Amino acid sequence: MAKITTSTLLKMKQQGEKITTITAYDASFAKLFDQAGIHAILIGDSLGMVLQGQEDTLPVTIEDMAYHTKSVRRGVEKTLIISDMPFMSYATTEQAYENATKLMQAGANIVKMEGGRWLTNTIKGLVERGIPVCGHLGLTPQSVNVFGGFKVQGRQEQQALDMIEQAKELEQAGIQLLVLECVPAILGKAITKAVSIPTIGIGAGKDTDGQILVMHDALGISCSYMPKFSRNFLKDTGDIKKAIALYIDEVSRGNFPADEHIFK
Ligand code: KIV
Repeated sequence: MAKITTSTLLKMKQQGEKITTITAYDASFAKLFDQAGIHAILIGDSLGMVLQGQEDTLPVTIEDMAYHTKSVRRGVEKTLIISDMPFMSYATTEQAYENATKLMQAGANIVKMEGGRWLTNTIKGLVERGIPVCGHLGLTPQSVNVFGGFKVQGRQEQQALDMIEQAKELEQAGIQLLVLECVPAILGKAITKAVSIPTIGIGAGKDTDGQILVMHDALGISCSYMPKFSRNFLKDTGDIKKAIALYIDEVSRGNFPADEHIFK
């Protein structure tokens, strides 16, 4: 298979093919996922929780992200690599330029930032300077203290309509992918229809263009609880390679997420 780029993913959206994505933080898992045919790997700042045992993602630093991005890069041949900009590493446009550069030089193909319209100037500047950006709306975990907990977002009509508008503004600013986390399935579908870039959902229903899971949840080895939107694919197969193959198959066929993984 040829190297996967953002153009590959855009074409998949246009052709109605599902995009499969998972997190990874080291070379060994990255290689396994790459060889299994996963389309994109995210080095998520979820590493603060699943690797470091923190309560949330706020303690993760740009040095942590660059270290794990370099490790994943060494395991990957074809898969697109998305790397998370951690908490307060893009609070100003200048900070974003400096820190996104570190992730791109560590091996990322695209950087991900959490937030809505306040980011549009920063996104425009990054794209103009050659750094592709993935947006992230809905439950953006770096804002857990503003939300008062890890809660589903976009349940009120006004909030949902505003999220659709913000998705369009991010697209206009230049994002090439959009992660939607923990929103009602109907909103995941509406945003996916409203933008022409691919959406990748996690707890956002089955109508997003692709799905992403934290690898520790997909393999049932998280040190915290199992989120409603996830599924333990290792339990169903008893083998890591088979578990990933099943995840890819279930997403591609539209069988995952099922009704029990969806927020209404
Ligand atoms: O940090 C992460 O793993 C993420 C996913 C949950 C999308 O942002």
